[in-house]
Amino acid sequence: MSSNVHLLDHPLIQHKLTLMRRKDASTNSFRRLLNEISMLMAYEVTRDMPMQDIEVETPLETMQAKVIDGKKLVLVSILRAGTGILDGMLTVVPGARVGHIGLYRDPKTLTAVEYYFKMPGEMENRDVIVVDPMLATGNSAVAAVERLKELNPKSIKFVCLLTCPEGVATMQKAHPDVAIYTAAIDRELNSHGYILPGLGDAGDRIFGTK
Ligand code: URA
Repeated sequence: MSSNVHLLDHPLIQHKLTLMRRKDASTNSFRRLLNEISMLMAYEVTRDMPMQDIEVETPLETMQAKVIDGKKLVLVSILRAGTGILDGMLTVVPGARVGHIGLYRDPKTLTAVEYYFKMPGEMENRDVIVVDPMLATGNSAVAAVERLKELNPKSIKFVCLLTCPEGVATMQKAHPDVAIYTAAIDRELNSHGYILPGLGDAGDRIFGTK
């Protein structure tokens, strides 16, 4: 596996992912588990976030202590399933700014079509974490990162719950500089663009739309 792909194999993440895969998991439990996994993934993906020292007065003395600047971080959610990861990540990085990219997959060509794009200002000073639960064909992820690169952010990382060899290859070919964080790399993509064994349609399972 390329050093740019980070497999988040912590037992807590793996256990929760297994529960999410079950076809009889309710919408409620699927959403709650994704929320919990997202908090754990946020912990890993922000590991190298830059910090600064500030002066703090403890009850006993003054010291220099470290803080992160959450406002420099932008979480970019690919609509609509990205919302499922965004919520959990915001719980642990509440100061982060948020951007949204609306993309849908053309069901015939499986290519990504953009219908919405809204980012905070001064993107050139910000580190970006793009979130989407499923890196399947990779077309949406590639298109989202291409669009974001037009704004010249300091760095871009991509976080998904699940991917497959095809999705990783497509993403790495187009954007070798973007690190991928995932909880699992499943066996394959089927001819309809679904990950096998996977967990089905993440958007439908998060929002109960099927
Ligand atoms: N999107 C999903 O929600 N599930 C897949 O398996 C592939 C893409």
